[in-house]
Amino acid sequence: MEFITVETYEELSEKAASIIANQVISKPTSVLGLATGSSPVGTYKKLAELNKAGKLDFSKVTTVNLDEYVGLTADNDQSYRYFMNKNLFDNININKANTSVPNGCAADLESECKRYDKHIEDLGGIDLQLLGIGVDGHIGFNEPDSAFAKGTHVVTLDPSTIEANARFFASAADVPTNAVTMGNLPIMQAKKALLVANGANKYDILQKAFYGPITPYVPASILQLHPDITVIYSKN
Ligand code: F6R
Repeated sequence: MEFITVETYEELSEKAASIIANQVISKPTSVLGLATGSSPVGTYKKLAELNKAGKLDFSKVTTVNLDEYVGLTADNDQSYRYFMNKNLFDNININKANTSVPNGCAADLESECKRYDKHIEDLGGIDLQLLGIGVDGHIGFNEPDSAFAKGTHVVTLDPSTIEANARFFASAADVPTNAVTMGNLPIMQAKKALLVANGANKYDILQKAFYGPITPYVPASILQLHPDITVIYSKN
């Protein structure tokens, strides 16, 4: 594991973007696993700048996102599909047909979970997985639990996650209570993992996750066993 502490969010975003850019340059057909939330926004902005400057080509890249809220359609501005289009896909030369976010509005969510796992398998797995971390230690929406979930599944969001994400909604009551999330297996099988976290409120959970015991009650702690994980942290 490489744990890099930087001074500013700008530096974090630059470093994370350069790791992703290296991945895409060395393998133009890369499968990127992507995250939403506030942590990767700066990284996505840097990637879009590189693309605009003609230094990075996404035309052959495929992406799979970690998660989606149950019940939010793609055109809902709080959905993760909307977030990805706005923060990255609309700003780079990726073929949107090659981007996937779980469908949180599928009539049969169990089948949707199976379909998503099969899709990741058919792609041959993930080359680089970008992650954030929740204040409760979640990765994707794999919340603290008695076991590590392997595949894509439906979760009930932890009250701390609902509280943390209420900042994006009109009120906490508007945050969906359920989500569809990729499980831990494709994340652990990703050839590279890159976790970005900023803010003093993430410090304690990062210590627990990366220097404490490996336990499903701190979901990100499983990443201690990942063969190629980089963590970038900035306090600001
Ligand atoms: C979102 C996701 C979550 C976030 C985490 C941190 O796709 O996978 O695990 O990465 O909730 O969110 P922020 O970055 O908003 O603090």
